[in-house]
Amino acid sequence: MPHPHVSSLSCPLSSRRGGTLGATAPRFDRDGVWAEYAIVTPDRIALRPRSVIHEESAALSLSALTAWQALFKKGNLQAGQRILIHGAAGGVGNYAVQLAHRKGAYVIAVASGQHRETLLGFGADEVIDYITTNVAEAVSDIDFIFDVVGASVIEASFTLLKPEGTYVGIASNAYNLVSKYAEQYQKKGIWFIVEADTDDLIQLAHLTDEGHLKPRIEKVYPLEQARQAYERLLEGHLRGKIVLSV
Ligand SMILES: NC(=O)c1ccc[n+]([C@@H]2O[C@H](COP(=O)([O-])OP(=O)(O)OC[C@H]3O[C@@H](n4cnc5c(N)ncnc54)[C@H](OP(=O)(O)O)[C@@H]3O)[C@@H](O)[C@H]2O)c1
Repeated sequence: MPHPHVSSLSCPLSSRRGGTLGATAPRFDRDGVWAEYAIVTPDRIALRPRSVIHEESAALSLSALTAWQALFKKGNLQAGQRILIHGAAGGVGNYAVQLAHRKGAYVIAVASGQHRETLLGFGADEVIDYITTNVAEAVSDIDFIFDVVGASVIEASFTLLKPEGTYVGIASNAYNLVSKYAEQYQKKGIWFIVEADTDDLIQLAHLTDEGHLKPRIEKVYPLEQARQAYERLLEGHLRGKIVLSV
């Protein structure tokens, strides 16, 4: 059973174009991604960034794609806006920090304190430790909230938004809550599931090759250790993506 958090190395899934291997974002609803071979449709394949190793491009595809679509396709983040990112040190969040910084937004990253230096290095303007700080008391007047945490932070998030602000959430536990609080607080609220998109993957590859996106990997496991990789995933508190190498 594939898991969206564990990126399988993309080489066997890729097409060869001009001798360069491509990368793909796996489907949520399909088994067989932890394998040497898998069938994918063309919209899930793009040339991978040339400046990073295979494991790093595997760590990018789904998470960076999710962050990209949240900020720029579902939401409409603009330069100069104040964005608050819940779960900023996680697999999706750290790409959101980098993409928002690249856009020219003022980035407030919410994460546990151990990730502070990493997030500042990714372009965060402020890092708030959610373990020691009440986020709702620490910030206000937010234009855009990107939330990968969900239920425990969602209601407070809506209170932090400016009247015309936007909340975008992806955590499954927030699915039923976004419309509820959007209506209650009269703010724009969006929940979505990432969609495969070759053009988006190409944009992300370019940004990576230009040095604007850096993959963060905690550990690469060989395919034979997929069980250990999954168990590590379940422990939580990751310091980057877990990657399976085929
Ligand atoms: N809808 C979609 O299309 C889509 C796509 C991808 C992922 N997802 C979902 O999005 C969620 C996040 O994915 P991920 O890969 O980024 O997970 P992840 O790597 O586990 O990251 C989650 C992060 O949230 C942090 N966190 C936990 N509670 C927090 C709080 N109260 N405030 C701030 N940060 C907090 C964790 O920090 P600690 O280390 O301190 O625990 C961790 O860094 C998952 O539920 C996943 O299923 C949805």
